[in-house]
Amino acid sequence: MRYSYDIIEKVRMRNDIVDVISSYVQLKRKGNSYFGLCPFHNEKSPSFSVSHGKQMYYCFGCGSGGNVYTFLMEYENCSFQEAVKVLSGKAGIKLPEIEYSQETKELNERKTLLLEINKQAAKYFYCKLRTPGGTAAMAYLKRRGLSDETIRIFGLGYSDKYNNDLYKFLKKKGYSDELLKDSGLFNVDEKRGMYDKFWKRVIYPIMDVNNRVIGFGGRVMGDIKPKYLNSPETKIFDKSKNLYGLNSARTSRRRNLIICEGYMDVISMYQAGFTNAVASMGTALTSQQVRLLKRYTDEVLLIYDSDEAGVKAVLRAIPMLKSVGLATKVVNLRPYNDPDELIQKEGTDALKERLERAENSFLFEVRILKKNYDIMDPQGRTNFFHEVAKKLLKFEDEIERNSYLETVSRLYHIQADMLKNLVHKLALKKIELLVQPKPRIFAKQIQKQGNDIDKAQKLMMTWVTNYPEILRELKNYLKPEDFTTPLYRQVAKMVEEQFLAGEVSPARIINHFEDSEQQRAVAALFHTQIFLKTEKERKKALQDVLYNMKDSSIAYRLSRLDPTDLMGLQHLMEEKKKLETLKESGFTEKIYL
Ligand code: CTP
Ligand code: MN
Repeated sequence: MRYSYDIIEKVRMRNDIVDVISSYVQLKRKGNSYFGLCPFHNEKSPSFSVSHGKQMYYCFGCGSGGNVYTFLMEYENCSFQEAVKVLSGKAGIKLPEIEYSQETKELNERKTLLLEINKQAAKYFYCKLRTPGGTAAMAYLKRRGLSDETIRIFGLGYSDKYNNDLYKFLKKKGYSDELLKDSGLFNVDEKRGMYDKFWKRVIYPIMDVNNRVIGFGGRVMGDIKPKYLNSPETKIFDKSKNLYGLNSARTSRRRNLIICEGYMDVISMYQAGFTNAVASMGTALTSQQVRLLKRYTDEVLLIYDSDEAGVKAVLRAIPMLKSVGLATKVVNLRPYNDPDELIQKEGTDALKERLERAENSFLFEVRILKKNYDIMDPQGRTNFFHEVAKKLLKFEDEIERNSYLETVSRLYHIQADMLKNLVHKLALKKIELLVQPKPRIFAKQIQKQGNDIDKAQKLMMTWVTNYPEILRELKNYLKPEDFTTPLYRQVAKMVEEQFLAGEVSPARIINHFEDSEQQRAVAALFHTQIFLKTEKERKKALQDVLYNMKDSSIAYRLSRLDPTDLMGLQHLMEEKKKLETLKESGFTEKIYL
């Protein structure tokens, strides 16, 4: 069950976006908008804009944007419902009790209790480390170079040698066995009943991005195996969706985030001043973790073990990171195995230098690829460069591809032209395969057209929301159906409805989308940059965009027309004719821009 649309809108209207964002970001007024440094990516000059009129924000640097709810969801990393709650509180609006299903209600209650238990347990471990029973554990951590402050910041603890004292402690607080079993903190067997999972281990509490303890890792203090025990998956802990240390790394305001493997690496790097490290907790990086990272940064440095398994893990991670647009570099630690070890042996400056020398992920991939070939052998050399060419082909941007190509040819002693030819040949082959039996330039044209159409539609939407009055005239020519992307069409319908009802409000449209990714896409629709200065230029551009959109919309519908539908065909032909007259008429003269 959700809050009603009316209440969502009421809460939104009572929270002026400029006020709300000002409490997080320093804003300066410039004309009709406010500008500041974007909190969602690192930047030096402000490209983050907040519009009082539109009640929206948008960053021209990273493309994040939305209404006041989107901002809160992105900044606090909370759900839509939570954002509504916070803002209603600020505005003093009492929310109706929302009717969750019985099942959801029970699950939520259970999660709250489990978080509470984890918090109690974390406190318990934390205190134990500071009792006489914890002396050895404390000494162990000190021996590993951690200061009191670091130990405190990461909330490290100790589970002592008795195997049921946490159980007793939590029982005394009144939690049921059934609930405690769900917490993952205990083992159960028939003979012994329930007993502590962690004992005689140093404890690393694992927190989510909102600083809530969701699980634990426990390390033995010697060489016994297994070295670590971790909380199992529970209703609040899913290893694949969290990254150790992200709660503090995300506020470090560094240019990038460092991904390493272990708890100790994050902690020891933090102490050395690298406060932007997170750990994947020993498992392969997942797509959820990658998406999570992308919320906080545009660049990551990978520091994995230098052994074969580590290299494999890096090779697996690179394309995943790339797929969400994260620039990636790989740090070489040899001969050391992890950053903690490097810091211990060579100190902070040595690590700093390694980070600065991190290798571009593409060049890393090529270097590793080369190991599979005998470069001294002509056939091996040929095969290697064929593979390299295939990889180069994956870059869509020509400048990017060429600069990689040049670097590779320099590093591996092959003439750039030769490599370029190879890439070119492969490209042709690939296009032929794609578009057979059509002529081969077709594929590229379609793609380019697609981009143009998309841009035209976005531009139109920005225009319409910036100057809603133009709809008076425009609506005679342009219909929501002319927007070919489903999301845009949906938004266009809403704009039309709002216009007919007397007021166009982009921020209200965003309310219809609960997912912050969608909200961001819609916000981008309203914020295409229009670099045109004079009214004449704008009119000309509007005319062109309208023509372009109409034309492609007709072509699109034509392509989907049932060939026997003669009426439909005639209709489209008429539209096409009308469009041509429109082009002649200079109708935008009637429009004030
Ligand atoms: N790990 C685990 N279980 C193990 C070994 C490792 O869960 N038996 C996870 C832990 O999250 C650990 C990470 O994998 O932090 C990396 O493992 P490793 O490099 O072996 O441990 P370190 O973090 O380097 O720990 P330490 O320096 O204390 O040995
Ligand atoms: Mn280590």
